[in-house]
Amino acid sequence: MIIAANLKTNHTRRSTAEYLDKVERYIETNEIIDRAVVFPPSSALTPSRRTITVGAQNAYHASNGSFTGEIGADQLDEFGIKTILIGHSERRHIIGEGLDVVKRKFDFFANIGYEIFFCVGEPLEIKEAGFDAVMTYINKQIADINLTYENLVLAYEPVWAIGTGKTATSGDILEVHKAIKNIAPKLLLYGGSVKPENTAEILSLEGVDGVLVGTASWHSENYCRLLEESKKVSRSKV
Ligand code: PGA
Repeated sequence: MIIAANLKTNHTRRSTAEYLDKVERYIETNEIIDRAVVFPPSSALTPSRRTITVGAQNAYHASNGSFTGEIGADQLDEFGIKTILIGHSERRHIIGEGLDVVKRKFDFFANIGYEIFFCVGEPLEIKEAGFDAVMTYINKQIADINLTYENLVLAYEPVWAIGTGKTATSGDILEVHKAIKNIAPKLLLYGGSVKPENTAEILSLEGVDGVLVGTASWHSENYCRLLEESKKVSRSKV
């Protein structure tokens, strides 16, 4: 199982270090067996810890160059970062990254061997149009992506469930995960209002290999609770 924390535009360099210290201590003293991955803001990037992978929430698809306001692979290399989030709904829908930019990012970082957490998921109006519409939408998001890439982890994150407190139902998750796994047999995380109270239920579903968590991961205590919940499920799922 992968329990990933997307800190988004929260935490400073100092508070991220404290966060990682607390989580690292927790993992070591509580026999956590699942994989912890934390995506801090760019200004707080730091090398991975022994038990925590640190990844980038975003970077430009270049090693360096004239891309004002962006960071590239050279800046990530400074911290030994080899994991990146691509296609998150906030980058697609708030920042305005289209399919072409997402693909260029994917190709660039795949080409240099990064582990890519690639997010897909439909907005509310598509969800309301039914399952076929949802899968048509997701298929478009992955159409130009090399789904056989070995370091690819997929994440299904319905846009209407992100940061809204509205989690997809188990039925929704099962149905979409099964369909995605048929197209791409990769590790597949669920994201969208995951919290300690629903983590065990979501993780126990077939086709769910972990969770990508925003809001409920921002306090280290909460993130540790997610790891604790996942421990119960991992043991019974193995
Ligand atoms: P949320 O965010 O847990 O706050 O819904 C999930 C995400 O954006 O990855």
